[in-house]
Amino acid sequence: MKALVLAGGTGSRLRPFSYSMPKQLIPIANKPVLEHVLDNIRDIGVTEIGIIVGNHATEIADALGDGSHLGVAITYIPQERPAGLAQTVQLARGFLGDDDFVMYLGDNMLPEGIREAAAEFRALQPAAQVLVAQVADPRAFGVAEVDAHGVVERLVEKPPVPRSNLALIGVYFFTPAIHEAVDAIEPSARGELEITDAIQWLVTDGRTVRAQEYAGYWKDTGKVEDVLECNRMLLDAVARSVEGEVDEDSVLIGPVVVEPGARIVNSFVVGPVVIGAGTVLHDSHVGPYTSIGRDCVLTDAHLDRSIALDGSTVSGVRGLRGSLLGRSAAVTGARLEERHHRLVVGDHTRVEVAA
Ligand code: TTP
Repeated sequence: MKALVLAGGTGSRLRPFSYSMPKQLIPIANKPVLEHVLDNIRDIGVTEIGIIVGNHATEIADALGDGSHLGVAITYIPQERPAGLAQTVQLARGFLGDDDFVMYLGDNMLPEGIREAAAEFRALQPAAQVLVAQVADPRAFGVAEVDAHGVVERLVEKPPVPRSNLALIGVYFFTPAIHEAVDAIEPSARGELEITDAIQWLVTDGRTVRAQEYAGYWKDTGKVEDVLECNRMLLDAVARSVEGEVDEDSVLIGPVVVEPGARIVNSFVVGPVVIGAGTVLHDSHVGPYTSIGRDCVLTDAHLDRSIALDGSTVSGVRGLRGSLLGRSAAVTGARLEERHHRLVVGDHTRVEVAA
């Protein structure tokens, strides 16, 4: 089996970050989403991975290289413009050959992995198998209508009146039968080749398509709120590990990770929190549920339920909550009394918080 990971796309819901970086490299608990994805794929014994890349191709290749340090072999497959999930299967035809493959959306997080789903696909050998989860409002998703035995009867992309609450989540298992399907369908009203249409083509053609309800936590990290929620979820699983320096005036409570080379000076840190290598905290209060990347500097800052990306700085702002600070973003303030601010600050952006 091979894997096809989709890391192109527009990322319009994650602007301004997606202007300057691929959303699939946003760190969750200080590790890029794409690395979490590759871990799950390697966990099911699949190491030949094709990654679809769009206009942020170089940055993704710089971050992941040939994959050998992660125990996988990566082939990059460029996509000129986001023309739909099914079009990526056409682009990857040469890489995929006649192998079965798992298609995995590169911005989706399933921290509990996909072992059970892979085992079911391998055991039952349907033409395709989709992962589904119950959602409150299915209208924004591909929706599956499934019989009592888990066989898909119909799939509809973003139905205005859904007949089921089972949404397709970002992991699909395919046999080579999908290639005929993606070549047979026409672009949808939004001009994209939809994977739901291709899978529906298999159903109409009489092939068996199965749906497996995913029991674990999953999140499409396409929006800021979802990135922050997923970060909180993953931080809940971290264990205390202090390798950096903590001075005697600082207090660390609960699961706090201080990576090597980080320095905590006269600060109060309430876990779960991850503090990246080379980061310095001075007179600050961090956490809970906060990830700070590498080489950040926080001085007289209070930050909780937030993510600060590499190289960001916060100085004199005491009430940052639910915030996402881009790479090398700088937030400064007047050291006034505590007040809550929720900031979403793009890469290399300067923000001054007034009194
Ligand atoms: P989406 O999140 O559905 O699409 P998007 O990236 O364009 O985001 P937005 O809606 O915010 O503009 O895509 C799911 C994943 O698939 C994501 O990792 C991007 C990737 N993708 C491709 O690689 N090629 C494509 O043609 C499309 C549509 C998505």
